[in-house]
Amino acid sequence: MRLDKFLCETTELTRTLAKKAMHREEVSVDGEVVKNPATQVDAHSRVQWLGRTLILVGLRYLMLHKPVGVECTARRGLYPIVTDLVDLPKVERLQAVGRLDVDTTGLVLLTDDGQWAHRITSPRRQCAKVYRASLADPLEGKDAEAAVKVFGEGILLDGEEKPTRPAELELLSDHKVRLTIYEGKYHQVKRMFAAIGNRVEALHRESIGDITLDATLAPGEWRELTADEIAVF
Ligand code: URA
Repeated sequence: MRLDKFLCETTELTRTLAKKAMHREEVSVDGEVVKNPATQVDAHSRVQWLGRTLILVGLRYLMLHKPVGVECTARRGLYPIVTDLVDLPKVERLQAVGRLDVDTTGLVLLTDDGQWAHRITSPRRQCAKVYRASLADPLEGKDAEAAVKVFGEGILLDGEEKPTRPAELELLSDHKVRLTIYEGKYHQVKRMFAAIGNRVEALHRESIGDITLDATLAPGEWRELTADEIAVF
C-alpha cells in the first residue's frame, strides 16, 4: 500500500495532510525519513509519524454482550454507544451488525468489514435471530397455542403492508418465551407481541445465525470472533 494511504488508515490525517507531514520530514519508514507519498509499505513496515509508531488495523470481527442503556449507533446521543465498550484503536470504524434497542441486551456483532455485515443483514439471506423475551402478561393455554400458530404463519404489524416472515415461538414458562425471527424490522419482537395484546418487558438476543453469545461474557464484555465464526457468513 502507498505510504500516504497507510498514514490515512492509521492516523487522523487526510491524504493532503499526510503528504504535507511527509514534506516536513515528519514520517519515517524503518528508520529512514521518507518524503515520497507513493513509497510502498505493508503491515510489517515500521512506519513512524512524529516518533509515533503506526499500526495498520486489519478487518475486525467481535461479539459484544450489550448491556441495557447502551445504544447501537455511531452517532452519540443521550446514551453511551457500543463502541465505547471496546478498547481498540479506531473503534469508530466498527459498525454494529443489526441493531438492538437501548433496553435490549445480548449479542451484538461489530465489524469494520462492510461486506461481511451486509451478508448478515441482507433480507435475502433470511438470517435467523434468536431472542429470549419476558412478557408482561402470562402466555398460556389457548392463547399460547394461538400465538405459536399466528407467529408461525406471519402476523401483520402496525404500519406494515406485508406480514412478518414465519417465526418460531417456544414457550419457556408462562411469562418467558424464545422467539426465532428471520428478518429485522424496526422493534420487530416488541411489535409482534404488541400485535397479540402482550408487552415485552425484557428482551435479550441469544444468537445470530450460528453465532451464539458466550455465556462467559458478562454484560459490557466482548471478544474477537474465531475464524470459524467469521466463516459462517
Ligand atoms: N426486536 C425488538 O423489538 N427490539 C430489539 O432490540 C431487537 C428486536
